[in-house]
Amino acid sequence: MTTVRRLPFPISLTGEGIQLREWASEDLDDLVVLLDEPDIARWTPMPSPFDMAAGIAYLKRAHQGRTSGQRIQLAITVDGGKPLGEVLLFGVDHGRREAELGYLVGAPFRRRGLAAAALTLLSGYAHGTLNLRRLLLRIDPSNTASTAVARRCGYRLTGEPPILQEGPYGPSSLDTWELVESQTNTRIDRLRNVATGRYGRRT
Ligand SMILES: CC(C)(COP(=O)(O)OP(=O)(O)OC[C@H]1O[C@@H](n2cnc3c(N)ncnc32)[C@H](O)[C@@H]1OP(=O)(O)O)[C@@H](O)C(=O)NCCC(=O)NCCS
Repeated sequence: MTTVRRLPFPISLTGEGIQLREWASEDLDDLVVLLDEPDIARWTPMPSPFDMAAGIAYLKRAHQGRTSGQRIQLAITVDGGKPLGEVLLFGVDHGRREAELGYLVGAPFRRRGLAAAALTLLSGYAHGTLNLRRLLLRIDPSNTASTAVARRCGYRLTGEPPILQEGPYGPSSLDTWELVESQTNTRIDRLRNVATGRYGRRT
């Protein structure tokens, strides 16, 4: 069984009380407000300060990544409107059926379950539609908010050696968390798909 070679574009995912949608050029003002923030600067590789020029470059790169099928990069919204955060899938390894995911939520919209909802929705899509088996998060262990999101979404800390990196806040290390599609679920889903194909409805 193979993975989807070119990531689908455009997409919109609805569930968990949210809608994930493609970024649009009209989002520029909202994007800059979301990303020009100390926690985003501290825990993500975003430039800081994140100004209009950074926003324009970011949306351009996001669009290139989407149209080339290299990554999934979606705005987190409640109903398709105002962007409140972002969730990503990138670094797909088709041989291993693995990819990395990432997320951020704007400061005024935190602690409402948005990151957990977005990660759950995109993880389900990655397993179910993209046929990826192992999903990865790289998280600095001091980032308690992000580790809480990972845990809530069923990700487990792996024993892989930390990834060391040098950043504006000094050296840091990133732990690897994983969500592996369970063999049992895969089997049940396959049987379900066969049944749906045969009888035209879900069992
Ligand atoms: C990490 C981040 C995305 C969390 O977003 P959020 O929408 O506030 O998270 P949620 O509301 O979905 O919370 C999910 C879980 O994390 C917990 N949590 C969220 N923020 C927390 C914090 N600051 N401290 C402790 N726990 C926290 C919630 O209580 C919840 O746990 P629960 O289910 O046990 O109640 C957000 O803080 C952020 O954007 N930070 C800066 C960017 C970043 O760190 N990205 C991740 C890089 S690896």
